Amino acid sequence: MSVHKDVKVVTTHILSEMKLKGEKIAMLTAYDYSLARLVDQAGVDVILVGDSASNVMAGYETTLPITLDNMIYHAASVVRAVKRALVVVDLPFGTYQGNSKEALNSAIRIMKETGAHSVKLEGGAEVSESITRILSAGIPVMGHLGLTPQSIHKFGTYVVRAKNKEEAERLKNDAKLLEELGCFGIVIEKVPAKLAKEVALSVKIPVIGIGAGGGVDGQVLVLHDMLGITQEFSPRFLRRYNNLAAEIDGAVKSYINDVRTLDFPNEKEQY
Ligand code: KIV
Repeated sequence: MSVHKDVKVVTTHILSEMKLKGEKIAMLTAYDYSLARLVDQAGVDVILVGDSASNVMAGYETTLPITLDNMIYHAASVVRAVKRALVVVDLPFGTYQGNSKEALNSAIRIMKETGAHSVKLEGGAEVSESITRILSAGIPVMGHLGLTPQSIHKFGTYVVRAKNKEEAERLKNDAKLLEELGCFGIVIEKVPAKLAKEVALSVKIPVIGIGAGGGVDGQVLVLHDMLGITQEFSPRFLRRYNNLAAEIDGAVKSYINDVRTLDFPNEKEQY
């Protein structure tokens, strides 16, 4: 029997069961009430309030500027809409790397002020203390390895990660470590498909890929990218399921035209 079809509320335990039974996990980002509601109603398993809100919602070039207060605002809006999906919230840059006490305080703020179910943070061994401390407060943690956008200035580009042996080994070790620490899942971003599959097979926790091929336990995409709202971002891994930018453009132009030609509002559209 299928795990995800019958489940009324997705928990971290449900995600492990899905992995065990070979059922793929569908995860998408959302940052606001209205779209989170649609995404949840459509049946996605996990909603990520990603710090990609920094790019998509606020128009920054990187994910670095978004603040904890910003993330809390987005996450609380999403949580108000969601009835079924597990909600994961990104800890933004600068709120968990420095010291583990600050990391715990940031995670507690997210859990208390938004009602979300878990947090995600980027990195492996270098953030293990923070992960341990957050977990010790009973807060589920998801890891994020491979391309970690909060470190963009260290790497300089958004190219595929872990293509060489040394980086691939580090990624495999980090994945094992995240599992040992007690993370309930890992996002792996933009690494070779063969490596991502190897990692997914080597750990019991679900591995969710973005630009990491089909051999992992689930997929995540940025909602605005897969809906075709964002236009300038076109990596190979992105499948666009709609072209909402064109649809919105058409609708807005029709509205402008109707206003200018006195077609809107008509008699039925007034009191
Ligand atoms: O912030 C985000 O949207 C993410 C995904 C790309 C996984 O971390």
